[in-house]
Amino acid sequence: MKKLLFVSSFLLIALQSVNAQALYKSTWESIDSRPVPAWFSEAKFGIFIHWGLYSVPAWAPTKGKVYEKYAEWYWARQNPADKPSAAFTDFHNKIYGAKTEYPDFVSEFKAEMFDPAKWAEIFKQSGAKYIVLTTKHHDGFALWPSEQAWNWNSVDVGPHRDLAGDLTTAVKASGLHMGFYYSLYEWYNPLYKKDLPKYVSDHMIPQMKDLVNRYHPDMLWTDGEWEITSDQWKSTEFLSWLYNDSPVKESIVVNDRWGKDTRGKHGGFYTTEYDIDGDQAVKREKSGRPWEECRGIGGSFGYNRNEYLEDYETSESLIRILVDKVSKGGNLLLNVGPTADGRIPVIMQQRLKDVGDWLAINGEAIYGTQAWKHSTKSKKDPNMFFTTKGNDLYVIVTKWQDIPMTIKDVPHVNAVTLLGFKGKIKYSSVNNQLTITPPVVSPSDNLSRYAWVFKIDGGAI
Ligand code: GLC
Repeated sequence: MKKLLFVSSFLLIALQSVNAQALYKSTWESIDSRPVPAWFSEAKFGIFIHWGLYSVPAWAPTKGKVYEKYAEWYWARQNPADKPSAAFTDFHNKIYGAKTEYPDFVSEFKAEMFDPAKWAEIFKQSGAKYIVLTTKHHDGFALWPSEQAWNWNSVDVGPHRDLAGDLTTAVKASGLHMGFYYSLYEWYNPLYKKDLPKYVSDHMIPQMKDLVNRYHPDMLWTDGEWEITSDQWKSTEFLSWLYNDSPVKESIVVNDRWGKDTRGKHGGFYTTEYDIDGDQAVKREKSGRPWEECRGIGGSFGYNRNEYLEDYETSESLIRILVDKVSKGGNLLLNVGPTADGRIPVIMQQRLKDVGDWLAINGEAIYGTQAWKHSTKSKKDPNMFFTTKGNDLYVIVTKWQDIPMTIKDVPHVNAVTLLGFKGKIKYSSVNNQLTITPPVVSPSDNLSRYAWVFKIDGGAI
């Protein structure tokens, strides 16, 4: 009996250790085999937040190539020894004086108006389902009490507050997913420059593990990966820890920025940015992998005081961008750049509110949807977009039409409705071609603004 007990408990231990064996190995093949957790593709709309020391000078030119307008690049652009841009250097010398150094801005980064619960309320109202905060951008300044960034984090200096922690608590309490942006490289960290392996093992990986263990984020959005390979960053090693052993191993979502060899190839979802990257971006969108476009409301991620109203996208344009990305199966991560004192500029709040009002009526055609398989073939009108959910097809028009609209490849139609509209919609269906006659409407119908959704019950069968 004793022997039997001994043998069976031995077997049990052996079985347990098989179970405990790493499910995901430290190879891209293995890491890529993990499906991106479903919540991500269902969410469709998220908010990016670029906030840090660069929010103090908060300046960039408003003309030029896309990345030349990024105010969060201030330190490198203003530095004549690095990636100089005359516009940044001139502005810096004129306003702050050549002797002022970027780290001096820390005394002006106070975040005294930062109200995380209010931010979370604004985000919730926008209809976004997830938030991504820059916990550390390329300047290396940490928005949480990072041991590795001693005296270069928001608790030791500046606001004297755990900005990432406080926001995470508020965002999670409002029922949204919380994600962290994290820059792998740091422009001027001496360790990164002199001893890369040590930077990776003693600074970068401990920081990422600290973020994960401390705050249990739902997403890790890495960046600044382009100078070296994913092998040098030890990315697959870190990801196998994240997927096998971390407290968020089931739910964590990551992107594709893990080394100069990985964008659009490895990791979790693929990223595009301000629609740059042309063909590469299109490849990512068509890869069958979940993907996400990120961009600002204006031309910058970090707050840019130099922008005027005309530099911001209108609500109409933002809703069109959202609809376009979602109709191709992607997500939109729309950025806000808070000020150094912790406010979300009112113009950005206004844009988010408009998107939220639109989603409150039309969210059914966005959340949890997929691209329609006939979309490219049937899409003749540049202002018409399609999504599907279950058996239903959604036709989203970004320009109201008074004349009948035709859609091909719709063999089944049970009913047609206009979201947010109580009246009946006239339609006919002949030879798989659906014709919808938009209703005559009056202001008292209170239709949504900017884009309208016809729901074709059974249209996706
Ligand atoms: C970049 C930029 C950056 C921005 C980001 C967002 O590659 O360097 O400033 O944070 O991507 O996608």
